[in-house]
Amino acid sequence: EALFHLNRTLVGRRVAVTAGPTREALDPVRFLSNHSSGKMGFALAAAAQRAGAEVTLIAGPVNLPTPEGVRRVDVVSALEMRDAAERAADHCDIFIAAAAVADYRPQAVAQQKIKKKADRGEETLALVKNPDIVAGIAARTDSRPFTVGFAAETEKVIEHAQDKLTRKNLDMIIANDVSAADSGFNSDRNTVTIIDSSGCETLPPTLKTELADQLIAMIAARAPAQE
Ligand code: CTP
Ligand code: CA
Repeated sequence: EALFHLNRTLVGRRVAVTAGPTREALDPVRFLSNHSSGKMGFALAAAAQRAGAEVTLIAGPVNLPTPEGVRRVDVVSALEMRDAAERAADHCDIFIAAAAVADYRPQAVAQQKIKKKADRGEETLALVKNPDIVAGIAARTDSRPFTVGFAAETEKVIEHAQDKLTRKNLDMIIANDVSAADSGFNSDRNTVTIIDSSGCETLPPTLKTELADQLIAMIAARAPAQE
């Protein structure tokens, strides 16, 4: 209880977090998506709220309860998530992109259920690239929040994450080796490396339940203090 009060490092600050997957419609009954559970983003939103922040959580379709005291905006597609994120970023100090945004969406959404063709054993699907939500926010010149991204990689983790930090103009990126033994989907712990312009720091394997609080503490320490 005493620690809880000592760790209120984000009092008076507004934080927006994206979480979960997006769904990209193909027709009224089908979509492209991924297996993101949204747990990391929801845990970060809860941790930021505990730290005293005013939190907006922009959530793709997930099966998770809204953390107490957090304002939740539900979205489905990447384009909807982009619009909600841009609105939230207009008045937030810290933007954290934890969502697993679909990189592409079907070029056309059929108005009726697509029928199987009797004479075709193969089919191709035309896709178009979705906007990069976090890069769009980090590219702002006006009302640009302290912008944090994630990079889940299976190889050359630091190299790929470092490249994303630079390419997307982020202030900080949290890299995660999802193929490592003490990390990833079937582990209670996660091993992450925090990278910013001053270098990188690998945290020891941390219980997933504690990681969000540690990451929020590190973000609070790095985000510029309010004027
Ligand atoms: N991200 C985003 N909008 C997208 C794609 C990614 O905001 N359209 C954000 C994610 O939320 C994450 C970061 O960018 O914080 C990195 O996502 P990732 O999928 O690892 O990066 P990509 O640039 O899509 O590269 P790739 O999938 O090819 O590794
Ligand atoms: Ca991607």
